[in-house]
Amino acid sequence: MYTKWSEQLLTGNEIIDKQHKEIFEQAARMIESGKTGKIESEAGKIIEYLEGYYNRHFTTEEELQKKHGYPGYEAHKEMHQRFREELGELKHKLAAYGASPELTTESVVLMLEWLAKHIDKSDKILAVYIQNTQSGKSIPDSRPVKP
Ligand SMILES: [Fe+2]
Ligand SMILES: [Fe+2]
Repeated sequence: MYTKWSEQLLTGNEIIDKQHKEIFEQAARMIESGKTGKIESEAGKIIEYLEGYYNRHFTTEEELQKKHGYPGYEAHKEMHQRFREELGELKHKLAAYGASPELTTESVVLMLEWLAKHIDKSDKILAVYIQNTQSGKSIPDSRPVKP
């Protein structure tokens, strides 16, 4: 059983949520195709493909953090980095044992489990921070413009 996207994973930040949802949906499609045997020919490409999604998403979040002066930037970036390293190990394992449909599915499941936990523990806090800074910014913006 793998982690599916649900509203419980919503952070409240539109950009972040859109990308999270996309990752879960793409991964679900890959796992479903695995059940029909299609994953076999694609197995090697799947992790690379998902890795690309994760990397793009991490960059988006890190850029947002820099833009909004997020105080947890370094710690959050480090978590992303640690995941990249774990993924590197997974890829070694796949290369060593062969990207069988089972091992590929297992890897996708692990990637989703990590993401769900990370969303809950870290991305939700980030989204609240962004929301707060954005609403804070509306105060000076609402001041009348001097002629
Ligand atoms: Fe994150
Ligand atoms: Fe995220």
